[in-house]
Amino acid sequence: MEQGSIPSPHILIFPAQGQGHVNATLKLAELLSLAGFKITFINFQYVQERLVRNTDVEARFSKYHGFQFKTIPVCRPDDPQRTERWRKLSVKSKPIFKRMVIESKPTVNYIIGDGVLGFVHDVAVEIGIPAIQMHCISACSFWTFFSIPDVVAAHQLPIKGKEDMDRLITKVPGMETFLRCRDLPAGFCQVSDISDPNLFFITNEIRKSQALIINTFEELEGPILSQIRTRYSKIYTIGPLHEHLKTKLRSIGKQELYSSSNSLWKVDGTCITWLDNQPSQSVLYVSFGSSTIVTRDQLMEFWYGLVNSKKKFLWVIRPESVINQDGDNLGEIPEELQEGGKARGYVVKWAPQEEVLAHKAIGGFLTHSGWNSTLESIAAGVPMICWPYFGDQQVNSRYVSEIWKLGLDMKDVCDRRVVEKMVNDLMVDRREEYVKSTARMQELARKSVSEDGSSSCCLNRLIEDIRLMNK
Ligand code: UDX
Repeated sequence: MEQGSIPSPHILIFPAQGQGHVNATLKLAELLSLAGFKITFINFQYVQERLVRNTDVEARFSKYHGFQFKTIPVCRPDDPQRTERWRKLSVKSKPIFKRMVIESKPTVNYIIGDGVLGFVHDVAVEIGIPAIQMHCISACSFWTFFSIPDVVAAHQLPIKGKEDMDRLITKVPGMETFLRCRDLPAGFCQVSDISDPNLFFITNEIRKSQALIINTFEELEGPILSQIRTRYSKIYTIGPLHEHLKTKLRSIGKQELYSSSNSLWKVDGTCITWLDNQPSQSVLYVSFGSSTIVTRDQLMEFWYGLVNSKKKFLWVIRPESVINQDGDNLGEIPEELQEGGKARGYVVKWAPQEEVLAHKAIGGFLTHSGWNSTLESIAAGVPMICWPYFGDQQVNSRYVSEIWKLGLDMKDVCDRRVVEKMVNDLMVDRREEYVKSTARMQELARKSVSEDGSSSCCLNRLIEDIRLMNK
């Protein structure tokens, strides 16, 4: 689509390798394609191979004029240390990406790089192309990462052992009264030594651009967005992206183009048939996202807690997500669990999550608090029990329970009695209060992506600003 005689700007979009990043960013790419931009969507090659193997993504996007996928041909570094892996990936990818941008035809006019891929923004600055970082994490977790240098300057880190975990961190503006050490991003900021190389890793990546796109909405994170605005003059809050895209496609009569599936695993749709035969709001959906690893012991605590709660459950267990005491992969879901699962639950390796959450049989979600999962749960009006694993998830789960009152936080505990109690609290004893607050937030999420809603207005502003930049 051309705007008068001016050719449509060519936007290059590059997400990080995780499932949540790919999901959210593809939805943004689709919204920008609908606005008439030419899009080149870049994935690491090993991500694209899995995406193509498990979905119809290429056929789906071929319907958008001027849309193309390109890949960065690097292998996934095998360093056991996460930040080291990311560092190596950046070092290998940066020159390849830079060459790709320089040689691109048509010329690249604008770059949207994932907030955790700082090198994408560096390349844009080096070549002199306008760029912005897209954050697939919540505003509250962004702000926590952003504020870590102030926390350190105030000597509120390091954490001095387990007994120190409930100490308040008072140097993240807007969170002075409820953010504890245990709510800081695990794997990055919960350090026992201030010289830990992980401490500033994400902070350094996310602080690169002058403006931000965040997959959130004003009505959910207004107070923290106000804090972020003290440091950034341009923030585009355009989420929940999946709901936004769905609404947009419906408004132009192209709802059949919507597909939730940008999955890196093969989706097992049989669970929908199973859900069809369950009573309304009777099932707890259990999924810990794309990169959580649990020990066999933890898995069994969840299993007993779920069975003892006497509630039905649909549980996603990626086979590679379970390890034994030596840290080796079990490779398969334990036999007794698969067998027992038939009685009161249904176990799959990967589910069509958006459809599952929207199903009338679902009454609650036991989640790792990944940001996409959290937004999908909010948009479906499903209350949550949070068991965060790492990174942004620790902050998200604190907000879900303490600020938004959309569920319970089981952080740092994995005990069958606690699982059983929380499941019963969510599904029975305190159900009314959670259903009320989630229904309210669901309504606000829907409004935000409606025609004059806050997220729609922000997306329109982003589209307009990109066009103005290229006039
Ligand atoms: C991590 C971070 O925690 C998250 O906040 C960040 O935005 C991305 O990286 P991840 O484990 O990928 O997250 O979780 P999440 O953000 O919740 O994304 C998982 C996605 O996979 C969701 O969109 C969910 O719908 C999808 N999913 C999950 C499925 O389609 N099927 C499943 O069985 C499980």
